Amino acid sequence: MKIAKTRKEVIDWTTNQVVGFVPTMGALHDGHLHLVRTSKERGLFTVVSIFVNPTQFNDANDFEKYPVNHHRDIEALLSSGCDLVFIPSVDEVYRSTDDPNKYKHDFGAIERVYEGAQRPGHFEGVGRVVHILFDIVKPNVAFFGEKDFQQLAVIRALVSLCKMEMEIVGVPTVREKSGLAMSSRNERLSPTQRDKAVLIFNSLSWAKSQFGKMSNSEICHEVAKRFEADLEWNLEYIDLIDGDTFESAQDGSMNIRAVIAAKLGEIRLIDNMKITA
Ligand code: PAJ
Repeated sequence: MKIAKTRKEVIDWTTNQVVGFVPTMGALHDGHLHLVRTSKERGLFTVVSIFVNPTQFNDANDFEKYPVNHHRDIEALLSSGCDLVFIPSVDEVYRSTDDPNKYKHDFGAIERVYEGAQRPGHFEGVGRVVHILFDIVKPNVAFFGEKDFQQLAVIRALVSLCKMEMEIVGVPTVREKSGLAMSSRNERLSPTQRDKAVLIFNSLSWAKSQFGKMSNSEICHEVAKRFEADLEWNLEYIDLIDGDTFESAQDGSMNIRAVIAAKLGEIRLIDNMKITA
């Protein structure tokens, strides 16, 4: 496995390759490695980037505390079959010579609701860094987790807006045995909090089981009550949405998803689950 720190190294080492790309912020877990393995299964020269992108954090504390462990990440990637890992500095990604307007996009309504509403500027930062990384790595296929369902939609919008010739693959969420979605932020949970965090998965599963039996707003209301019962939780949103438009699901909506975000103490967790189709 090659380790690149500069754009030039990436360009040199990916020439003439059919590239599968997995962008990450590191602190890798089995969810990330599943994306890498999915790319390898397709026979692609697989590039993983590790870059904690400052422009997508609206909370300075969250950025400061984001776990970083390159040594452990490299070990994990070695056993996953990754061909090239790109670990750039901030200056290597954000070059003053780049045209800033090229990487600034308006993704419309989907970037302003749910995660976009809770984290102003977040998707602009994600769109910016992923576009820059796409320009460097020039992937044929890029892999993103459904865990960040709205991010996946933003990336699809980016590719369509910029008419990029690239396939985007959405990969189902990898979970702990308990159902808790794997996340780099889980590292910051205490053992007690880790037990409590299962409430997110349990609520999504319960919402799915009740869908059609009670109204969507009743389902969301009942879920909210479970979170309110414990003061360590701060529920940001729970909703049943149309997974294509990111509007609240209406009668007859196809592709319904339950989406949820909540803070447990200081740690912000998100998850989602397919309800129909
Ligand atoms: P990060 O949170 O490190 O996630 C990198 C990729 O792994 C994303 O596509 C994410 O959806 C996926 N992923 C995370 N947890 C997963 C799980 N439990 N199962 C399956 N896939 C999972 O998302 C980002 O980084 C950044 O926003 C990034 C796209 C790299 C831009 O900075």
